[in-house]
Amino acid sequence: MKQARDYIVFPLDVPTVTEARRFIRLLSDHVGMFKVGLELFISAGPKIVHYIHAAGAARVFLDLKLHDIPETVFRSMERIAQLKVSFATVHCGETQQMLASAVAAAGKNVSVLGVTVLTSVAPEDIQTAGYRQEYAADISRLVLKRAAAAKAAGCAGVVCSGQEVSAIKENLGREFIAVTPGIRPLSEDTTANDQKRVTTPAQAIENGSDYLVIGRPIRDALDPRQAALRIQREIGRSLTGLDTGWKR
Ligand code: C5P
Repeated sequence: MKQARDYIVFPLDVPTVTEARRFIRLLSDHVGMFKVGLELFISAGPKIVHYIHAAGAARVFLDLKLHDIPETVFRSMERIAQLKVSFATVHCGETQQMLASAVAAAGKNVSVLGVTVLTSVAPEDIQTAGYRQEYAADISRLVLKRAAAAKAAGCAGVVCSGQEVSAIKENLGREFIAVTPGIRPLSEDTTANDQKRVTTPAQAIENGSDYLVIGRPIRDALDPRQAALRIQREIGRSLTGLDTGWKR
């Protein structure tokens, strides 16, 4: 059965292998997955993925957020698949074909997630970027549209904010995975930073989120392991408070 810690995805948002190793050692038993993003992948390369695998416990989420012509995405995802990561991301972007190429190249072992609308994006950004007013007025509509495209292309799920999860689960099914960044735990003394569409772990879990990306509230805590444990307890309380309805 999925435990509270399995919901936590910790992004290794650090510049060096040395720092990444410190967090991997500290948190391996307290998070379900380590997310490797562009910053660390550029500085450490694929060997950081091998290091996490060798460390045991947690799974790997390679978050390179691909966005390119379908052929380039296909070839890049083929290389990613060789790293045997659990999740990899591609922007939902403009065409379903790019998403379908990512899925085709990923094969059975890597679950492809479509990045819908970044949680750092606010309604005014959508307006400035030239999208229709209906999307600026309600970002969740754009998120849902992109999530539907990701599902049609064969993606395993999407990255979205905790605020949009229930609509995604209601419209696209409970099995369609929702990974939610922009999480700000009640137990930690943190600000939203650059995140705009934030939720607490409890809100995200209650809305049906499958995985919670929680970075700075853990990374920047005085004691990151204790912060992860406090967050685990916060998630645990939400899980026990949940009904046995469609959400779980
Ligand atoms: O919790 P915190 O705000 O520090 O999380 C930042 C992390 O969330 C970064 O690794 C960033 O790439 C990731 N993120 C994401 N998708 C979004 C927004 C943020 O994967 N839509």
